[in-house]
Amino acid sequence: MFDIDSYFKDFMEKEEIFHERNVLRPEFVPSFLPHRDHQIQKVAEIVACTLKNSMPSNLFLFGKTGTGKTAVIKYVSEHLNQQCRESGIPESKWIFLNCQEVNTGYRVLAKICDEIDPKHPVPIAGWPIDVVFDALIEKINTLLRGNCFIVLDEIDVLVKKARKSQDVLYNLFRINSRLQSTKVNIIGISNVLNFKNELDPRVISSLGDEDIVFPAYNALEIKDILDQRAVRAFFPHALDQSVIPLCAALAAKEHGDARKALDLLRKAGECAERRNAKKVVIDHVYAAQENMEKDKMKEYFEALPLQSKMILLSLFQLEKHSKQGAVITGDIYNTYVELVKFIPGLNKLTQRRVSELIRELDLAGMVNARVKSTGRYGRTKFIKSNIDIKDLKNYLCTEPRLAEIVEIKPASLQNKTTIYAGKQFRKLM
Ligand SMILES: Nc1ncnc2c1ncn2[C@@H]1O[C@H](COP(=O)(O)OP(=O)(O)OP(=O)(O)O)[C@@H](O)[C@H]1O
Ligand SMILES: [Mg+2]
Repeated sequence: MFDIDSYFKDFMEKEEIFHERNVLRPEFVPSFLPHRDHQIQKVAEIVACTLKNSMPSNLFLFGKTGTGKTAVIKYVSEHLNQQCRESGIPESKWIFLNCQEVNTGYRVLAKICDEIDPKHPVPIAGWPIDVVFDALIEKINTLLRGNCFIVLDEIDVLVKKARKSQDVLYNLFRINSRLQSTKVNIIGISNVLNFKNELDPRVISSLGDEDIVFPAYNALEIKDILDQRAVRAFFPHALDQSVIPLCAALAAKEHGDARKALDLLRKAGECAERRNAKKVVIDHVYAAQENMEKDKMKEYFEALPLQSKMILLSLFQLEKHSKQGAVITGDIYNTYVELVKFIPGLNKLTQRRVSELIRELDLAGMVNARVKSTGRYGRTKFIKSNIDIKDLKNYLCTEPRLAEIVEIKPASLQNKTTIYAGKQFRKLM
């Protein structure tokens, strides 16, 4: 029988781990940002002139993921607006767009319109682009005063997606010539360092030349960032002292990503909570790390094109059924050729293309390809899946077209047949 009284008693006595869990979430902007003084100062120096009603140059922030670009812009924008309020100056309007989500020129303009005038949304599609642009100018002229900052986060995605979006950027950079009393400033953010090389020279010339680089954090810097958050996020004594240095070291080893470190710390805390532990210890960090790896693999798998998923399906079948243990590119290709016939409308790729896709999967860490010397036969590439076979099957089943064939054992793997010169033959004995 469920003992409700002792349940409540235990619940009351249970030591809590988190004091304010939200402090570890990515959207939380802390009251100061350790190790970003230089970048904060540079952005502040550029946007400060809006306080005296002049126009700053456009700005570009570059740096790998989790290096504080968004956090720095949000931090500066909050402080700038606070200064405006204190000095009785109209606050600047800040519009944040993530080009991963708003990823066409049309949608960028429409979204800016909607941020300025939410009561009269622009249709999701259908207007000619110059009509949306005119609507934007009218809305800015009638509804805004002072400065408006448009932050285009992950701007490289927009540029890569379509050449046409560069025309939109070009017009957006020059919008001020058509505005009456508002000045629009563009802040681009990108984690692709050489992104400017991909731009049209017309767009480059209308960008300001203010680039601010965000270097990756090292382990000690990440430790400071985590220490600052942990004080608020956890109850005193809920964290073993080795937990933060370990989270910092693991995140720094990858590429100095503060977001990853904060996620790891939060998930380690949640793991301790689930296990009813009194303290977060390093075991919880390793468990959280393993789960995060799995989540990352799953997310990566879901975003793969169907052909790459077919390759993983072939590898899955080989690892499941083949007795020899080692899998080579040729085996994968033979199985692939057989399986591809089950998917109507899917073209068969060449062996060369399949090898390229295997190389990409290797780079992404989904498979492990090792070249080994095989004596007088030269060098051969052996491929192994980096995903646990049960997990791989679950991932494959998330793709409806593959879920149907995941259980089919390819004829080439049935003992009675063999493949020779691309054709399948029944073995004689
Ligand atoms: N110097 C710092 N001090 C405190 N927290 C930080 C610092 N830098 C980053 N963070 C935190 O790390 C997380 C990731 O930072 P942010 O979102 O700014 O990264 P980003 O550079 O914009 O990454 P992406 O390119 O993926 O968008 C956020 O929770 C942010 O608050
Ligand atoms: Mg960001």
